[in-house]
Amino acid sequence: MTAASVAIVAAFVSLAQAMQPLAVPPLPAPMRSLQWGQINFLHTTDTHGWHAGHLQESQYSADWGDYISFADHMRRRADEAGVDLLLIDTGDRVEGNGLYDASTPKGQYTYDIFSQQNIDIICSGNHELYQADTADREHHLTVPNFASHYLASNLDYIDPTTGKQVPMSEKRYRTFQTKHQKLNIVAFGFLFNFTGNAANSVVQPVQQTVQEPWFRHAISKEPADLFVVIGHVGARMGELHAIYRAIRAVNPETPIAIFAGHAHVRDAVHFDDKAVAIASGRYFETIGWMSVSGVERTEIGSAQAPSPIKFARRYIDNNLLGLYYHSSTNATTFPTDHGMNVTAAIATARSDLNLEASYGCAPQNYWLQRRPYTNPSSVFSLLRNHILPEAIVRADRAGVPRIIIINTGAMRFDIFRGAFTRDTTFIVSPFISLVRYIPDVPYALARKVLTILNSQGPILSAMAKEKSSASTDFGTEAMDWREMCVPEQYSMRKEDSRVSKHFDSDDASLQKPLFVRQVAVEDGTDSDDTTRPPLVAGYTTWDDFGQDGDDAIHEPLPRYGLPNCIQAEVNFPAADAADASVTGEPETVDLVFFDFIQRFVLAALAYLEQNGSATAPDGEPYKHYTDADVESYLEGKFTDHFTEWVKHNWKSKC
Ligand SMILES: *[C@@H]1O[C@H](CO)[C@@H](O)[C@H](O)[C@H]1NC(C)=O
Ligand SMILES: *[C@@H]1O[C@H](CO)[C@@H](O)[C@H](O)[C@H]1NC(C)=O
Ligand SMILES: *[C@@H]1O[C@H](CO)[C@@H](O)[C@H](O)[C@H]1NC(C)=O
Ligand SMILES: *[C@@H]1O[C@H](CO)[C@@H](O)[C@H](O)[C@H]1NC(C)=O
Repeated sequence: MTAASVAIVAAFVSLAQAMQPLAVPPLPAPMRSLQWGQINFLHTTDTHGWHAGHLQESQYSADWGDYISFADHMRRRADEAGVDLLLIDTGDRVEGNGLYDASTPKGQYTYDIFSQQNIDIICSGNHELYQADTADREHHLTVPNFASHYLASNLDYIDPTTGKQVPMSEKRYRTFQTKHQKLNIVAFGFLFNFTGNAANSVVQPVQQTVQEPWFRHAISKEPADLFVVIGHVGARMGELHAIYRAIRAVNPETPIAIFAGHAHVRDAVHFDDKAVAIASGRYFETIGWMSVSGVERTEIGSAQAPSPIKFARRYIDNNLLGLYYHSSTNATTFPTDHGMNVTAAIATARSDLNLEASYGCAPQNYWLQRRPYTNPSSVFSLLRNHILPEAIVRADRAGVPRIIIINTGAMRFDIFRGAFTRDTTFIVSPFISLVRYIPDVPYALARKVLTILNSQGPILSAMAKEKSSASTDFGTEAMDWREMCVPEQYSMRKEDSRVSKHFDSDDASLQKPLFVRQVAVEDGTDSDDTTRPPLVAGYTTWDDFGQDGDDAIHEPLPRYGLPNCIQAEVNFPAADAADASVTGEPETVDLVFFDFIQRFVLAALAYLEQNGSATAPDGEPYKHYTDADVESYLEGKFTDHFTEWVKHNWKSKC
């Protein structure tokens, strides 16, 4: 966009309009329409504060106000047709975008903005629970905002004043009858077996929850024409199967509609002919659509005659052209007063938070997963070669050799060429990552830590075995090592086993893209048709129902796997080819890492000591490292050091 057109758009900010004023307008794409059924669902998940939409990406540039307008049109259409429409959100609404993260306290604007949408069934994600203050706000703001629609099937909150453990929301499940079809719904809201939560919340493992008397009652005694299971759980994670099996065991014929999240992917999973799960992506790029037909009203206890149940799914790109298309509206008829008010509130919040303030100009695109993590255009190459060595420096130990290990999941989005703004800092590195270290760790030990963190599959089972036989405590019992990587790896598919395993950082498979499929030639569309617009790059989803899930037909984008962690080696002595005694290996190093992975780093060190494969030159076993050996390496959070680096190194104006 040219400076002149920005100015023209900016001049109209005060006028009511859809979409954020600085967002790039959407491009037309060949479209697939929605398949309306007897009961229909719109699903958001893992929005992570992106309620302003993607200002730099045309295909996802609509905002939360536009979603409010869209839902109103869709409800009206459902009313006209005498069918039902329900809205679902499956959590991780927080962390990942300046709109949430840039205020003090966080979320000063987003709780109100989000609550403007009328959501029928909503639950918590893991990100609502990492920090105690976030969990407090969830309990005191989001739960009341959505009242009886907020379901906490396996989540409790600990009241700081009384110390009492209470359900996060008073509803473990919800029963209701739909407006038009009068279907009896029994709905649940789950979170996966999350273990990284702050001390003021309690997550009950899913397998225990499904044994609870209230759950047994809900699945066997409540009249149910359709079970609706929503969860911040990957569609292919074991927890969801456990819930499905528990319901199916007592209800062999009742349809089950499942809404999944956490894995940040578009996906749909066929559990059986009457049970289907949809996962609706991430960052408000996608609005998921599911419809169910053939649901029969049944009386409790009556024999349930099998009926043909039909599920359909669609992944809607969140942009205005698509939203007009699906709601049969246009630029004039689309925006509602309520939607425009929310769009305006978002624009005001962004401006109050100064999110457009530019810190520098990124000279090129750096991709999170569109390139192998070793490629020069990967965010992780930039980190390893520049940001970690140059920005993570402690003045009094600047010359000490160090290994800096960070988990790849600490980074959340691509860096686009152009202005690197205050918003970008939170988009790329949203978490409060503190930089810690253990000084003077023998290099022979420290050099092996990365391998353990990345290829823990066999090593972890060895640890578990040793633990049960020798009762050595590695502290691994309540650790899910996958938490270190990006959430996308929870999207385990049988078709591509590479995603379900953990990667060595030198694993050659990381150099090959994950499931890129060419889009099948569309029936009815002529590929020689010169009036057809060029395809925009985007999702080309391949799920259990085929390759026709995306609403817009896209040019495929590549995606590559990531190891759990990467490391930078800094200040290592130079090896001398002429003198074998000058190895280029330091005696000891400062082992630097983010607080988020401290327990994993200590577990890896404990394993190395225990395994006996690393012993000190004098044959003595190495020291047993504990939390007491860990010190702060730098004041402040990583994002701030990253920002300082950008200010100094990407000074040029865009
Ligand atoms: C969830 O946690 C329970 C209890 O720790 C465990 O038995 C179960 O295997 C876990 N489920 C999954 C899928 O990880
Ligand atoms: C939008 O649709 C309305 C009603 O069909 C029509 O009157 C109007 O001209 C259309 N506006 C645009 C911008 O196409
Ligand atoms: C939109 O905002 C105006 C001005 O603040 C207010 O009067 C109106 O009630 C709002 N409308 C809706 C539908 O929220
Ligand atoms: C653990 O010890 C075994 C045998 O001593 C060795 O083969 C293996 O490489 C060691 N594992 C690690 C990660 O060092």
